[in-house]
Amino acid sequence: VARCCISPSILSADFVNLQAELGRIANADAVHVDVMDNHFVPNLTIGLPVVQRIQEVSPVPLDAHLMIAEVDRWAPAYADAGLASVTFHVEASNAPIKLARELRARGAKAGMALRPATPVEPYLDMLAELDMLLIMTVEPGFGGQSFLDVTLPKIRRAQQAIEGSGVDVAIQVDGGITEETITRAAEAGATMFVAGSAVYGAADPGKAIELLRAKGQL
Ligand code: DX5
Ligand code: ZN
Repeated sequence: VARCCISPSILSADFVNLQAELGRIANADAVHVDVMDNHFVPNLTIGLPVVQRIQEVSPVPLDAHLMIAEVDRWAPAYADAGLASVTFHVEASNAPIKLARELRARGAKAGMALRPATPVEPYLDMLAELDMLLIMTVEPGFGGQSFLDVTLPKIRRAQQAIEGSGVDVAIQVDGGITEETITRAAEAGATMFVAGSAVYGAADPGKAIELLRAKGQL
């Protein structure tokens, strides 16, 4: 069993002190960077210039979550910036297989994200094109929301398909992950856990990461 991966989301960090905030999560497996454009989701965060600077100073690998329209046009530049993984929403892509191949060709791991209401079934035959499948466990757009248990069967379905076909795809969950909900997500088959408020809302983010990691390990 692979070591459980915790990826804190800087959406819950202090955006004016990003370098210091990255230092507080140096024991994380990756740092989750939420890019929002106020079109794909009703919220706006940061774009490529800021992500490039984060990439230059971060002690842990970057895991970008692109919640943007026209992602086929924008995502490759994030891979070119040297990010470890780039995740696009399938709902925003006109050509998800082509995009996943483009990301890999540029040296990034390719991740594909599904909103809570998007079924996984139509995409099970393209798993080999991906390194990561992100199953959103809240509606994308904001931190601090409650975990949607209705997404658990989708995680299980994806896990079965991955196991059945023998492909090497990690299932990531994002939204409402806490010391309590992480167990349910892990039992359903998730192996990478994004946590914003549960990490940055803690008095000691490093300790919160250790606790989540212990609970996410089955
Ligand atoms: C929501 C973002 C998440 C968010 C998670 O659209 O994709 O990454 O930061 O925040 P929590 O862990 O607080 O639900
Ligand atoms: Zn996210």
